[in-house]
Amino acid sequence: MKLIVVLIAAIGAQACQRERTFKTHHSHVKRQVSNVTFPPVLNSDEQILVNSFDNTSISTWSYYYTHGDHVAGRNRSMAQWTADRWAENGFTSRLDEYYVYLNYPVSHSLQLTYPNGSTFTPSLTEAVLEEDETTGYPNRIPTFHGYSFSGNASADYVYVGRGQQVDFDRLIALGVELEGKIALAKYGGPFRGLKVKNAQEHGMIGAVLFSDPSDDGNMTIFKGVAAYPDGPARNPTTVQRGSVQFLSIYPGDPTTPGYTSKEDSPRAARMNSVPQIPSLPISWVEAQPILQALNGYGTAGVEVNRTGWVGAIPGVNYSTGDGAGASLSLTNVMEDAYTPIWDAVGIINGTNQDEVIIVGNHRDAWIIGGAADPNSGSSVLIELSKAFGKLLETGWKPTRTIVLCSWDAEEYGLVGSTEWMEEYIPWLKGAAVSNLNIDIAVSGPIPGLAATPDLHTISTEIMKKIIWPYRGTVNRTMYDVWEEEDGDIGVLGSGSDYTSFVHRGISAVDMGAGGGPNDPIYPYHSNYDSYHWMSTFGDPGFHTHKAMGQYLSLLLYHLSSDAILPLEPANYGPEFDKYFEELNTTLASYNETLDLSELSAAIDTFKEYASQFNGLRAFAVSTNNTELLNVQNHKARDFSRGFASQGGLPGREFFQHLIFAPGLDTGYAPVTFPGITESVTFEGNFTLAQEWVGKTAQAILVAANILKT
Ligand SMILES: *[C@@H]1O[C@H](CO)[C@@H](O)[C@H](O)[C@H]1NC(C)=O
Ligand SMILES: *[C@@H]1O[C@H](CO)[C@@H](O)[C@H](O)[C@H]1NC(C)=O
Ligand SMILES: *[C@@H]1O[C@H](CO)[C@@H](O)[C@H](O)[C@H]1NC(C)=O
Ligand SMILES: *[C@@H]1O[C@H](CO)[C@@H](O)[C@H](O)[C@H]1NC(C)=O
Ligand SMILES: *[C@@H]1O[C@H](CO)[C@@H](O)[C@H](O)[C@H]1NC(C)=O
Ligand SMILES: *[C@@H]1O[C@H](CO)[C@@H](O)[C@H](O)[C@H]1NC(C)=O
Ligand SMILES: *[C@@H]1O[C@H](CO)[C@@H](O)[C@H](O)[C@H]1NC(C)=O
Ligand SMILES: *[C@@H]1O[C@H](CO)[C@@H](O)[C@H](O)[C@H]1NC(C)=O
Ligand SMILES: *[C@@H]1O[C@H](CO)[C@@H](O)[C@H](O)[C@H]1NC(C)=O
Ligand SMILES: *[C@@H]1O[C@H](CO)[C@@H](O)[C@H](O)[C@H]1NC(C)=O
Ligand SMILES: *[C@@H]1O[C@H](CO)[C@@H](O)[C@H](O)[C@H]1NC(C)=O
Ligand SMILES: *[C@@H]1O[C@H](CO)[C@@H](O)[C@H](O)[C@H]1NC(C)=O
Ligand SMILES: [Zn+2]
Repeated sequence: MKLIVVLIAAIGAQACQRERTFKTHHSHVKRQVSNVTFPPVLNSDEQILVNSFDNTSISTWSYYYTHGDHVAGRNRSMAQWTADRWAENGFTSRLDEYYVYLNYPVSHSLQLTYPNGSTFTPSLTEAVLEEDETTGYPNRIPTFHGYSFSGNASADYVYVGRGQQVDFDRLIALGVELEGKIALAKYGGPFRGLKVKNAQEHGMIGAVLFSDPSDDGNMTIFKGVAAYPDGPARNPTTVQRGSVQFLSIYPGDPTTPGYTSKEDSPRAARMNSVPQIPSLPISWVEAQPILQALNGYGTAGVEVNRTGWVGAIPGVNYSTGDGAGASLSLTNVMEDAYTPIWDAVGIINGTNQDEVIIVGNHRDAWIIGGAADPNSGSSVLIELSKAFGKLLETGWKPTRTIVLCSWDAEEYGLVGSTEWMEEYIPWLKGAAVSNLNIDIAVSGPIPGLAATPDLHTISTEIMKKIIWPYRGTVNRTMYDVWEEEDGDIGVLGSGSDYTSFVHRGISAVDMGAGGGPNDPIYPYHSNYDSYHWMSTFGDPGFHTHKAMGQYLSLLLYHLSSDAILPLEPANYGPEFDKYFEELNTTLASYNETLDLSELSAAIDTFKEYASQFNGLRAFAVSTNNTELLNVQNHKARDFSRGFASQGGLPGREFFQHLIFAPGLDTGYAPVTFPGITESVTFEGNFTLAQEWVGKTAQAILVAANILKT
């Protein structure tokens, strides 16, 4: 049996606020032999949609999006351009404006001082490449962290691994002094803002986060692979920008927790969701001397014995470094702004206006380019609007309202989508069926999905209708490729704009195609995520863009037009069983016990009512009872609100979905039954955990009862 190792984040290959990990499929259960027919059989509407997609026009949209500054809040004309394209294709379009707190880079510096007094001063810049024009734009964006703290720090520094709480626990166990020091942390694993948060909570006064070639597997210059722009390996000067907001605590404008940000909105203090110590991102090549100065001091990396601790920078042994006597001096100057951001919104009214499908993609990027993140998705949405425009010309009208959204300020912390959700929550709570999110639509050739369970069936079935271009092979559907390379639909954690919707009980799917271990390294949040990279390495010919857009279009078509709303509440049943088993396994390593009987009873009730729901829906169909079918469709739309009916998780009220949430100390990766699980794994508080067994069971019962009545 072949062990398939796919370079896809376990949380879905597509979240923008994500980092890449090697995902292994030891336990991948092969599905039943695929019954996919080839070529796929499409109805005439589906054919119109699919045939409307053109790789060359997608590349034109991509070119537009990737040749101007579109950092959050800085490019209203790009928002208007997006709305105008949608309008040309028949969508009623507008811009929704919010006033939010953001900060922008002014200046920064970093210096290493060796014990003998000599110094090394990293440039903190990425190489300008002649082949890639936008890397040399005079207005190119500096390397920095969004929402980072303005300040200076000068002190000895310690290598803290990936900066997870367990890494800090290990350092404390090793007797390493952290207070007053600067943290040097490796990217990978938890969301970067949580690395800074953990450093801050251990009394550290600054943080430097570096990329490490260990995240690139064998696709490195050390294995003889040429680096970008000459080849698919990472350019050594690549720097990962990104937000350092505390994403697992609260997304959205940090100064308006729980309400929308208008010009005159009252502002709350922000220190609970953004750092109070300065931080900087650097490339591996500039981290190398800084790490080398720690070699031989403190505990050597291999002896630390922590997952992901030792990286692959030559000549570095990833020592903790206490006692090395080398020090860092960093400055980070940011300019605070309360500034407008613009969400473009495009609508086609359905005949049932109380059923709404929201298709979202963010538009803002950390760099001039952003060819993958997020503008592969943006380009796909323009082409999708064109395809639906063609369908409208035939006189077609969707049953359900379609809303396209181009979010701003996602990169800082899902700001545009969160503020929008907060403004429209009364309408959304009633009418929203699903949020289809496409952030990084394409950074490689392998399709990936993460979704709420009720969307698993339709998301999988639609894959069988799409011809997927794949490594020169022909006659393969998206389903075939996905089944072979991935085959699992991920659980939604956080890291992209579906978050706000999920945590108000709205079903969601996040989609995107990413690279495997032998594919070109995707230069996430770097100047090299450019049109040139995309057209040379990421998706030459833009064929994967086209296929991804066709997929999203058919998914949207069926969700907006099928008489039977294609959500399957019963799919939660087997997922509950899995999460329950995982919880039970987690508990087995503790000495205290929890009584889970209330939870398992609620799961049983849910399964029973979901099965009754299916029976009644089938009856409505077989008797052609449209009124009853409508009632059942509304139940399918509404039942998941129950999962978000019991208030927010401990210490992070924003997150209300009690079945899954981003891990408190991961930010991207999900944790299931989060209230129960984290009361145990973080608080070690079994009294609290028992309370959350009750609340989680109650949430499941509320959902079950919506299906029943
Ligand atoms: C494949 O089989 C499943 C289950 O038997 C069925 O629901 C689905 O419609 C089939 N798909 C195709 C494309 O034949
Ligand atoms: C906005 O983006 C467009 C398209 O990339 C670009 O042409 C324009 O210069 C940008 N505007 C600003 C103010 O940077
Ligand atoms: C100081 O130490 C660094 C690191 O060991 C070394 O590279 C450098 O040559 C030394 N400078 C002097 C002046 O000795
Ligand atoms: C890297 O190459 C080695 C040796 O060829 C191989 O054993 C390993 O599986 C490869 N790793 C990945 C992630 O492909
Ligand atoms: C490393 O950690 C693992 C798991 O915690 C443990 O089983 C192993 O003994 C440790 N190895 C060393 C060398 O400390
Ligand atoms: C869509 O419906 C809304 C709400 O009913 C209405 O205000 C709007 O005018 C409609 N738009 C179009 C283009 O019909
Ligand atoms: C691919 O499918 C087409 C039918 O759509 C068929 O004519 C062709 O022979 C197939 N090619 C291969 C290599 O299977
Ligand atoms: C679109 O696809 C065609 C056919 O494969 C190819 O010739 C063309 O170069 C592609 N367009 C772009 C912009 O890559
Ligand atoms: C839960 O775990 C215990 C062992 O810790 C095992 O005996 C029991 O069968 C498990 N229950 C379920 C439902 O998995
Ligand atoms: C469980 O109890 C044993 C014995 O008292 C102790 O060694 C162990 O650390 C405890 N485990 C946990 C997870 O508290
Ligand atoms: C089903 O009912 C609708 C109206 O409620 C009617 O237009 C249609 O002809 C009926 N179809 C069948 C197969 O009875
Ligand atoms: C554990 O949680 C309970 C219930 O919320 C709370 O009353 C108690 O203070 C907590 N215990 C500790 C040690 O934090
Ligand atoms: Zn993104």
